[in-house]
Amino acid sequence: MQVFTAQQQQEFAVEPLPIRRIHHIELYVGNARQASYFYRRAFGFELIGFAGPETGVRETASYVLRQNKITFVVTAPVFSDHPIMDWLVKHGDGVRDVAFEVDDAEFCYRKAVERGARGVREPYTLEDEYGKVVLASIATYGDVIHTFVQRDGYEGFFLPPYKATPKDELAKPIGLKHIDHVVGNVGWNQMAETVAFYNRVFGFQRFVSFDDKDISTEYSALRSTVVANENKWIKFPINEPAEGKRRSQIEEFVLYNNGPGVQHIALECENIVHTVRQLKANGVELLHTPTTYYDMLEERVGKIDEDLDSLRELGILVDRDDKGYMLQIFTRPVQDRPTLFYELIQRKGAESFGKGNFRALFEAIEREQALRGNL
Ligand code: FE2
Repeated sequence: MQVFTAQQQQEFAVEPLPIRRIHHIELYVGNARQASYFYRRAFGFELIGFAGPETGVRETASYVLRQNKITFVVTAPVFSDHPIMDWLVKHGDGVRDVAFEVDDAEFCYRKAVERGARGVREPYTLEDEYGKVVLASIATYGDVIHTFVQRDGYEGFFLPPYKATPKDELAKPIGLKHIDHVVGNVGWNQMAETVAFYNRVFGFQRFVSFDDKDISTEYSALRSTVVANENKWIKFPINEPAEGKRRSQIEEFVLYNNGPGVQHIALECENIVHTVRQLKANGVELLHTPTTYYDMLEERVGKIDEDLDSLRELGILVDRDDKGYMLQIFTRPVQDRPTLFYELIQRKGAESFGKGNFRALFEAIEREQALRGNL
């Protein structure tokens, strides 16, 4: 593992784009009505808005889902010749847009394009009775984009042209707070150029990287570098496959996703034991952790506040760095293709990504990969 010093980070420094936070994440799905039900019922997101044929948006249906600071939009086309249909044929359900809130969308767009990003949509304005917003989009890895969202004092609950929906009686929030990190998987030898893209275009800096000696099991391997914005609120690990005895799990992802894409979104919880209990009760499938993982846990990570029996029962992993510890667990992929999944994470001081759990985690992922006949 390599942690970059301030001086090494300086080598890549450009003036960072003035980004405040992740505003929302949009997923393209085959059936947005059913996907929204899944996120409400399984993950406790509240349905807060809708845009679709019933509200005058003729070609797509989009549902806005929120829990604390996390906002997801699930969108499906309603006509077969809609361009989103091509995206779905290629990738299946998955993340299309990781949108950033910014003060000046036009400035961020022009600057990004000047620094080599590919523009997807020039700045445009949307308006309704609550005010106006300015949006613009650029491409990142694969067919994923970043939209710059300038709210300009907009007073609506989300964005035009979405309409608020009645209070969601179905959703029961499970303590998800905010997005901790969003992981991109890229193809062979594409990590360096993807990291360079975030350095050069956004001014995001290399935070930490892991090579195949850190992250390999007997069979398959990967390399990972985390880029982050200045205050580290936005963290994007980028993974690429590495040579192993068998096919890397990153290669499997890229095969089923037909190219690079978002592999997982990590959601920070207030109390991971409570959240994971709710997720299980709601039928969310989590990766299995072997009970032997807990045998030497306290020797490995030291004293922790949580009850070890609960962690063992739920399969929650623990890791420690020099700043504290963290707890984490991963869901199985949330669609039939083995592509997008979720991580639940609770940080107790630690800033790391669970390096100590990589082996246990990847062995669990590979057991599933083997069941699919891909290992
Ligand atoms: Fe993660």
